[in-house]
Amino acid sequence: TRKIIIDTDPGQDDAVALLLALASPELEVLGITCVAGNVPLDLTARNARVVCELAGRSDLPVFAGCDRPMERALVTAEYVHGKTGLDGIALPLPRMKLQERHAVDFLIETLRAEPPGSVTLCPLGPLTNIATAFARAPDIKERVAEIVLMGGGFFEGGNVTPTAEFNIYVDPQAADIVLRAGVAVVMMPLDVTHKALTTRARIEAFRNLGTPVGHAVASWTDFFERFDMAKYGSEGAPLHDPCVIGYLLQPDLFSGRHINVAVETQSELTMGMTVADWWRVSPRKPNAMFMRDVDAAGFYALLTERLGRL
Ligand code: BDR
Ligand code: CA
Repeated sequence: TRKIIIDTDPGQDDAVALLLALASPELEVLGITCVAGNVPLDLTARNARVVCELAGRSDLPVFAGCDRPMERALVTAEYVHGKTGLDGIALPLPRMKLQERHAVDFLIETLRAEPPGSVTLCPLGPLTNIATAFARAPDIKERVAEIVLMGGGFFEGGNVTPTAEFNIYVDPQAADIVLRAGVAVVMMPLDVTHKALTTRARIEAFRNLGTPVGHAVASWTDFFERFDMAKYGSEGAPLHDPCVIGYLLQPDLFSGRHINVAVETQSELTMGMTVADWWRVSPRKPNAMFMRDVDAAGFYALLTERLGRL
């Protein structure tokens, strides 16, 4: 099994990613660290626990982390995810407690305690917690096995500004620190996630699982779709964050290139843009596996089969 820490700001698609991880015996989730992003921190930390309880995993440690980006003011996305961040279905408030330790302390202490190169980080929101941990404890960088993250976009354009994807836009300084850390990074940008669309048939397949988890996932993706379909005019909405977990389970579903990716942190016009050197025309060294394609049918088959186990 592979040890992972999921850093997240749930978010319906974050919630589906968490469920996919919890349904998969190949992965051992050491903890869930929450960050401010789609909605403020108190809500993301609550939503992560709602999802754990839905999966019957109230034993999992959930930590609250940074409540705002490193330098900029917090930007949230209630217009996509609803007021709670998990709109679409009413689920019970969590009974499990939040851990007392700060998420950044958990990240640092866990990476120091586990064997070097054995823990994979899976950021599904702004990179504030991860960058703060790297800045505070630079020794942990070389202990990370790999970072597999959802964020960025280049050919597809941005979803929050014409050039920026939400997770990177919210905390570009953090993204810059992570991409320059010298750690192996795999990126799932909009270029991939906009090819993993929730069609009607795929949402029905979740519903047809006939379980509380299947029902919740169908309701969330239905909610998400109403907003995203109107925005993109596509059949179905992108299901971003589960691509990260899908990659851990079946990497051959995805393809891309190992290239340099740099983050714009200065220009207000293109703030948070992930400049991907796809044609390797800059002297900058490759620092990330930038994914661009996904076998969407294979991905949804995997996701649906796994959710059926919960
Ligand atoms: C990302 O932003 C959030 O709204 C989603 O949860 C996803 O992580 C997509 O841009
Ligand atoms: Ca997210």
